[in-house]
Amino acid sequence: MRLLMVSPEHFDVTYGINPHMLAADGSLQRVDRSRAVQQWSRLLEVFRGIGVEVEVIPGAPGLPDMVFSANHGLPWGREVILSRMAHPERRAEVPIFRAWYEKEGYRVHDTFAAREMDFEGMGDALWLQPGKRLIGGFGFRTSAEVYRILGSEQGIETLSVRLISEHFYHLDTCLCLLREGEAAWVEEAFDAESAAAIRGAFTRLIPLDFREAKEGFAGNAYCPDGRHVVVQAGNERFNRALRSAGYEPVEVETGEFIKSGGSVFCMKMALG
Ligand code: ARG
Repeated sequence: MRLLMVSPEHFDVTYGINPHMLAADGSLQRVDRSRAVQQWSRLLEVFRGIGVEVEVIPGAPGLPDMVFSANHGLPWGREVILSRMAHPERRAEVPIFRAWYEKEGYRVHDTFAAREMDFEGMGDALWLQPGKRLIGGFGFRTSAEVYRILGSEQGIETLSVRLISEHFYHLDTCLCLLREGEAAWVEEAFDAESAAAIRGAFTRLIPLDFREAKEGFAGNAYCPDGRHVVVQAGNERFNRALRSAGYEPVEVETGEFIKSGGSVFCMKMALG
């Protein structure tokens, strides 16, 4: 597994496009930049420490969310479908990733920008089998139509699920894929039909505590190898559930990034 991360020197909260970005009084969250840089560096170290290869590209001024590199596309093999961010504030991030993919020799598909159809990459589209089968969220950022097009134009089969809770605005905030057939989830984040479809698609589903998922971003964990689960620190119920299912939680502090609505999973793109 190879990951792509974006260095955090321009990370900030300068607009509010999800509820986590606002403090209780409605003002924007305040980021402690030096703490953010430390947390990000530690996360990079943790990934490398468990044997994951990580590529780093620099962030860009004026693009405070670029550090959430899960959102800019959907890569598999040497191909990538680029995102079309739902919010104009984030659209200028995508061409920077396009340039990187082109330099790396990927075949780049502009499927959704050309149609002005919103798609937020691996924030919402999670591979069950790279290049072949996805579970895809829609309802806040990604348009439902996207998955039909991925089917007809790329032959990608999708189990699409509707997100209904604004705190869980990306699928990667409420569904965490673990070993094959296993996942952790927040059932309340899905409509009834989607929840039933998810139940049918996995052999083991670890329920996430609502508060741990909403405040501690427990569902935004990442399991690169079927064993380690890199997760925001302090989610004790989830840690216990993981251990009893045979996983090893690896805790990291991502509190500054949670102020923007993201944690471990969205701070990297899984390149396959
Ligand atoms: N502030 C960013 C946004 O609202 C956070 C993105 C987090 N990414 C994720 N995959 N959940 O777009």
